[in-house]
Amino acid sequence: RQGSPAILRDQPDQRTGKKPDLRILRPAGCKQLTPTNNRRIQMSQYGFLFDLDGVIVDTAKYHFLAWKRLADELDIPFTEQDNERLKGVSRMASLEIILEIGNRTMTEDEKQALCQRKNDWYVEYIKKLEKSELLPGVENFLKQAHAAGIKIALGSASKNSPLILDRLGITELFDAVVDGTRVSRAKPDPEVFVTGAEDLGIDPEYCVVFEDAVAGVQAAHNAGMKAVGIGSPEILGQAELVIPGFANVTVNDLLQKLENV
Ligand code: BG6
Ligand code: MG
Repeated sequence: RQGSPAILRDQPDQRTGKKPDLRILRPAGCKQLTPTNNRRIQMSQYGFLFDLDGVIVDTAKYHFLAWKRLADELDIPFTEQDNERLKGVSRMASLEIILEIGNRTMTEDEKQALCQRKNDWYVEYIKKLEKSELLPGVENFLKQAHAAGIKIALGSASKNSPLILDRLGITELFDAVVDGTRVSRAKPDPEVFVTGAEDLGIDPEYCVVFEDAVAGVQAAHNAGMKAVGIGSPEILGQAELVIPGFANVTVNDLLQKLENV
């Protein structure tokens, strides 16, 4: 489709050197996910699982502001570049990275208290989130999927997920929410997506994960699901399909491309 922002991986053929239109390289050991009997799949058989931060909304800037405030209080240098290391990482693991940067050690109780402080500040920002901060096209895409009868789950490490969905006014589009309060193992462990698929009652074979992080794409594959990378193909090249964002993406086009993978 002309103007489609979808980018499929298109490595040159080793024999001919030509770039095929549709050719997907799968990580070694990752099972072929296309349903075996090749029949056309009904849209409503699918489950969509969405990461939150970086896929639905850019909360990284608020995490940064809150962590920066804490780091300043602790006299630890902390830059936006350091903040990249915290994307997709749990709250406690994020604090541990910051303490490592500052070469500090703390007791468990101290660390819990610092996480709480950071989160109080973070929640102050999140409470002011507005619908306009939804990433371009994502609400339309969610609504299309919902209208097509596709089951939709959130799969995020953030314990603040319900508040964020509520502030963005999209809670009712989700059939299930799996957040940091429900899982103990971080991506690339598949726990968050396996739990989401169970909640939806959809076989992993029919689940599609939308992720902006490499660890999230790996988590999808570890769960036996297909992954759509949101971002750049250079970084998310393991995904079956990579798109820069949801603007002008239709559910129908996307599923057709995935079915051909
Ligand atoms: C992830 C973010 O989605 O959630 C991380 O990418 C964050 O940066 C993690 O640390 C946990 O979030 P929260 O809201 O539970 O502190
Ligand atoms: Mg993310």
